[in-house]
Amino acid sequence: MPTSNPRQVPPQTVHVPLAERSYDISIGTGNLAQVGKWITSLRSVTHAVLISDTNVAAHYEKPVHQALEAEGIRVTSLVVPAGEPSKSVATAQKLWEAALEDRVDRKSIVVALGGGVIGDLAGFIAATMTRGLDFFQIPTTLLAQVDSSVGGKVGINLPAAKNIVGCFWQPKGVLIDTAVLETLPRREYLSGLAEVVKYGVILDEPFFDYLEANVQPLLDREPAALQKIIARSCELKAQVVAEDERETTGLRAILNYGHTYCHALETVAGYGEFLHGEAVSVGMLCASRLGEKLGVFHAPSTQRQHALLSALSLPVDTPQLDEAAILAAMQRDKKVEHGKLRFIVPLKIGKVELMADIDSEVAMSAWREGHSA
Ligand SMILES: NC(=O)c1ccc[n+]([C@@H]2O[C@H](COP(=O)([O-])OP(=O)(O)OC[C@H]3O[C@@H](n4cnc5c(N)ncnc54)[C@H](O)[C@@H]3O)[C@@H](O)[C@H]2O)c1
Ligand SMILES: [Zn+2]
Repeated sequence: MPTSNPRQVPPQTVHVPLAERSYDISIGTGNLAQVGKWITSLRSVTHAVLISDTNVAAHYEKPVHQALEAEGIRVTSLVVPAGEPSKSVATAQKLWEAALEDRVDRKSIVVALGGGVIGDLAGFIAATMTRGLDFFQIPTTLLAQVDSSVGGKVGINLPAAKNIVGCFWQPKGVLIDTAVLETLPRREYLSGLAEVVKYGVILDEPFFDYLEANVQPLLDREPAALQKIIARSCELKAQVVAEDERETTGLRAILNYGHTYCHALETVAGYGEFLHGEAVSVGMLCASRLGEKLGVFHAPSTQRQHALLSALSLPVDTPQLDEAAILAAMQRDKKVEHGKLRFIVPLKIGKVELMADIDSEVAMSAWREGHSA
């Protein structure tokens, strides 16, 4: 009789329904070695441009490279320096030229192996090289697995603005191996959990309950808990994206819960001071207090989020920063229309709404009241 292994979790698939651009996200533990068979089950491939960064390549380039070659695929492996600065025109140019040099053609595919930086950059290369190549993603950070690899946004930065050059380019498939999270630095891992909490607050109270009940397995990165939260987060984001693929109806804006405060915090504190998810954690609590002030949300629900985020070792206190600079940054945020502030505000755990015309003093008091006592 086969012995049951508690670390063995059956793989699962999340479908992203986008008409002719529909695709599947395959989620499992230890499935990285199957990447060659997985890709060739989706289409026939003779040449792959594999893009990763220095940190990720050290752990996972070899097994992926070998798994592709084992299926008869010629691999052009390109490794860029780890970090946000690689999402640049200069790096994109190097990648275009290296791919051309190694005889990329219109039947080649691009495989992104890495976090959100690599997903956005490699996706942009896929979208632009020879007017568009099929794109496959193997996200390796929790943030990339639950957020950036779903939705099709790809792009690079200019020195003056993040993500300003890019497009929508849906992958043909996404493969998630939860085991790769074992090597992710703890702070990066926890930061990704903030986006997971976000999905509970905006769309799914039972999921929020699950997170509250599973803090320790999550801190321990237990495969079953990881697979559960990744699959549910992908499902929830996929639902939103399916209803508003190109961010035209406004529905996709709910994904920005906590992000107006978060972006202002990232800008004023200086990029790198807070990891994105850390700033999301602080920002969600500001948006919750704003909901209280507007009379649509209740303090105990703010406290539930506060308790969960702090149990997950995420920051919950608003840092002491120049308030005028925070307000100015929020007013420059893309959710501002005709000078009035707009926020995604929670109505209850599991439901949020876009509220326009928010008074800047009220918005700032929700910020200020988050300073530690
Ligand atoms: N396209 C979208 O919809 C979307 C959504 C959210 C964020 N983003 C973008 O995602 C980027 C941030 O992504 P991120 O947080 O994944 O950052 P990242 O890609 O820089 O990865 C974080 C760090 O972890 C390392 N790393 C990655 N996987 C690892 C692993 N398994 N083991 C050890 N180290 C590993 C990386 O080398 C890097 O140093 C930003 O550029 C942001 O704009 C895009
Ligand atoms: Zn985010």
